[in-house]
Amino acid sequence: MKVVVTGAAGKIGRWTVRRLLDAGYQVIGTDKVLREESATEHFVQADLRDYGQACQVIMGADAVIHLANIPSDIRNTPQAIFENNMLVNFNVFEACKDWDIPKIVWASSETVMGYPFTVNELHYAPIDEEHPVAARSSYAMAKLLTEHLAGMYHDLAKKQIVALRFANIYEPDEYVNITTHWTEAEKDKQKKNLWAYCDVRDAANACLLALEKDSLGSSVFHITAADTILPDPSEELVRRFFPAVPFKRQLQGNETCMSIDKARNVLGYTPQYSWRNVLHEDGNPKAMPQDLYALSNV
Ligand SMILES: NC(=O)c1ccc[n+]([C@@H]2O[C@H](COP(=O)([O-])OP(=O)(O)OC[C@H]3O[C@@H](n4cnc5c(N)ncnc54)[C@H](O)[C@@H]3O)[C@@H](O)[C@H]2O)c1
Repeated sequence: MKVVVTGAAGKIGRWTVRRLLDAGYQVIGTDKVLREESATEHFVQADLRDYGQACQVIMGADAVIHLANIPSDIRNTPQAIFENNMLVNFNVFEACKDWDIPKIVWASSETVMGYPFTVNELHYAPIDEEHPVAARSSYAMAKLLTEHLAGMYHDLAKKQIVALRFANIYEPDEYVNITTHWTEAEKDKQKKNLWAYCDVRDAANACLLALEKDSLGSSVFHITAADTILPDPSEELVRRFFPAVPFKRQLQGNETCMSIDKARNVLGYTPQYSWRNVLHEDGNPKAMPQDLYALSNV
C-alpha cells in the first residue's frame, strides 16, 4: 500500500514516515523543505500551495497522511498562516478527490475548541469531540474551516477523511523542559490548553491507526497523552482553575482533561509514552538508555 505523507520533513511527519515504514508501507514523503532525517528514500520536494505539485505527489497513492501546515500562530503573520494552511488543505483534498484517493488522515488541532482557555471558559470537563468549537486565531480558524471542508469533501467524493486534533507535541528530548511548567504561574498559564500534550511517537501511531481503520466517514478524534504535563491530579486542577465548570464525568488521577475516549474506543489508540517514563514526579530524570531518544526507536 502506497501512502503519501505531507509535511514529511516536519516534527510529526518524520516520526510518521518512520512508523509507516516500520509497519511495512511504501511511503512517499513530501515537503516544501528538504531534510536529511526525512527517513524515506522516496521524497519529493513540493510546495502544496501549487495545485499541480499537489497532484503530482498525490496521484497513484492509496492514502494520504496530510501533516503539512504552518503548525502554530506564533512565528508568522495571521494572513500568512491562513493563506498557506487553507490553500494547502484545499489543494490536498481537491487532489485526493481528483485522483480518487480512498483515505485521508490529516492534522487538525486542539486549538479549535476555544483555546486559549486562559480567557475563555470551558463548557464542561473533560473536553470531548462534542464540546462546542470556537476558533480564536487565524491558525485555529484555518483548522476549523478545514474540518468543515473535510465534511464537504467526504460528501462530494465519498472517501474517508479523518481529522486528528493533536495536543501540543513533544519529542522525547523535550521532556527535560517540562518541569518549567510546574510553577504556580505556569500552571495558570498552561490552562490555556488544559495542560495537554502528546508524545510525537503516539501521534505517529495515531496516524497509522486512523489509516488502517475503515468506515470512519468524516470524523474527528482527540489525540493526546494519557496524562497531563503536570504532576497534580487532573480533577483538582480543573476545580482550582475552572471553579464554575461542570464535570461530564470524573477524571481519574492524572488523566488528560482532553478526553481521548473516542480514539481509544474507535481507533484502538492507547498512548504509550509519557514524561513519567523519563522523569520522576519531583522532576528528576530517570536513568534511561540513550537510544530511547532516537528517531529510529518509534
Ligand atoms: N506541533 C504541535 O504541537 C501540533 C499540535 C497540533 C496540531 N499540529 C499540526 O500537525 C501538523 C504537523 O505539525 P508539526 O509539528 O510536525 O509541524 P512542522 O512545522 O514541524 O512540520 C510541518 C511541515 O509542513 C511543511 N509545510 C508547510 N507549508 C507547506 C507547503 N506550502 N507545502 C509543502 N510543505 C509545507 C513545513 O515545511 C514543515 O516541514 C500540522 O498540520 C500542525 O498544524 C501540530
